[in-house]
Amino acid sequence: MDFRGAQRERILALLAERGGATEGNVRAISAETGVAEADIWGAGHFYGLLRQDGPKTLVCDGLTCMALGAEDRKAALLAAGHDCAPSSCLGLCDVAPAAIGPDLAPLAADDRPCHLSPNDPELPINLSGPRSAAYAAFARAKDLGPDAVIAEVAASGLQGRGGAGFAAHIKWTGVRGQADPVRYVVCNADEGEPGTFKDREVIRQQPEKLVEGLAIAAWAVGARDIYIYLRAEFERERRILVDAIAKATAGPLGGYVFHMVRGHGAYICGEETALLESMEGKRGMPRLKPPFPTERGFRGKPTLIHNVETLACVPDIILRGGERFRALGRKEAGAKLYCISGHVARPGIYELPLGVTLDELVAAAGGYVGTPLVFSPGGASSGFLPMSERGRPLDFGSLAAVGSMLGSAGAVVLNDTADLAQAVVWQLHFFEHESCGQCAPCRIGTRWIHGAMRHYLHSGDPAALGDVADVAWEMAEGSICGLGQIAALPLTSAVQHFPERFGPRPAAQE
Ligand SMILES: Cc1cc2nc3c(=O)[nH]c(=O)nc-3n(C[C@H](O)[C@H](O)[C@H](O)COP(=O)(O)O)c2cc1C
Ligand code: SF4
Repeated sequence: MDFRGAQRERILALLAERGGATEGNVRAISAETGVAEADIWGAGHFYGLLRQDGPKTLVCDGLTCMALGAEDRKAALLAAGHDCAPSSCLGLCDVAPAAIGPDLAPLAADDRPCHLSPNDPELPINLSGPRSAAYAAFARAKDLGPDAVIAEVAASGLQGRGGAGFAAHIKWTGVRGQADPVRYVVCNADEGEPGTFKDREVIRQQPEKLVEGLAIAAWAVGARDIYIYLRAEFERERRILVDAIAKATAGPLGGYVFHMVRGHGAYICGEETALLESMEGKRGMPRLKPPFPTERGFRGKPTLIHNVETLACVPDIILRGGERFRALGRKEAGAKLYCISGHVARPGIYELPLGVTLDELVAAAGGYVGTPLVFSPGGASSGFLPMSERGRPLDFGSLAAVGSMLGSAGAVVLNDTADLAQAVVWQLHFFEHESCGQCAPCRIGTRWIHGAMRHYLHSGDPAALGDVADVAWEMAEGSICGLGQIAALPLTSAVQHFPERFGPRPAAQE
């Protein structure tokens, strides 16, 4: 890496340490690093946590929190003297409506243990099980050798758990096959999809499985440096990971160099190439693909990027075999961490066969609260489905077949007390707020479609939604990343499945 690149990689961390992108900080960091002030302004102001005027109490405005009373929570916090700001999903949907303090820790009332599957040693991740720092899977991986390790991952049928469901072993083979001897492994722990909080819980409960999965991946693809990009709001999780890494690298994982990289409050940095840009100290704007990160990733080098859950499955696959892992699923391979929140009795994380139905998932979570109306199977990006789909397998293929997606498996259920049109507005607000703005169809479309929907809610006139289908098509066709491609789905899917809820309605009272 050249000197300028090295300096540039420091600027976001320096801004965060010094309290954000203020005039004084930008000038001082420019003098220190040689990076132009304009570049530092541009990068810093991209990130929600760097452009804020001082730390605040952040009140989540994600779907689950809004449906369960975030507005009332905010009013109560303001009345109690908190300096509040809204935030996109905080990854605390199990304790919704959630808020975090200026120190980025959950407020005391929100600091409750998450409901989890009971301890079961048959489960690959087994969140409720005992922690182990034996690193036996890493030892076995070394005995097997890289090719056999990748063959085991292939046999497991492991699909990436970050959203796209791409076969993991293909990426491992791709990175391993690159001519460049410098390769990186990156863990995507930027979890920010509304409804999703599983990676948080892997880090809290089984950090060693993540650390071991990373080391096995690095061993298999020939990397030494491992980066973990963790969202800033997971401060407690950062400390847990740092501790697990320190112990592991003082022992069996001594040959690896782990680097923690902090996010700064931008959902789009979960997109893998935006994440790489952010690691390089830039605005988190997705790159055009190809080239894929396996060929040209971090610092232009071959890079293996995986989600936390994907990596945490790897030790089990190596220790107990890929075929065993595969057999845990139904139509698709493996067990899966499902998040469930909203109108259910015990919102939490349940590790179940990949392909369970919503009814099975909700049964694990203690049942529905009230009469369920609608669900979102995999985060905001998956749109809404009617309860007639409650028996559909929650897997990648079965949900894609109905125009939805498993995504990050952040399922949210709303019962018949919810106003679906209002729920759509919350999801559209999220995408407008989180668009990085580089593609016109996404930048303009997310704003337009959100505006049209608010106009409909205000006026009660369905004509406000007349051009939605055309704009949604433009967005899907003209956007370079998944955000713009699916940002209209909360509205188009809701209209498709619940046309009766988008007819004339009483105009909103001033
Ligand atoms: C808008 C957007 C946001 C994303 N956010 C995340 C995220 O928070 N965490 C994650 O692991 N993957 C996220 N992804 C998927 C990543 O781009 C990438 O596919 C994933 O990290 C690869 O890991 P996997 O193979 O283990 O799934 C996102 C994708 C898009 C388009
Ligand atoms: S689709 Fe939207 S979020 Fe994705 S790169 Fe384009 S403008 Fe950015």
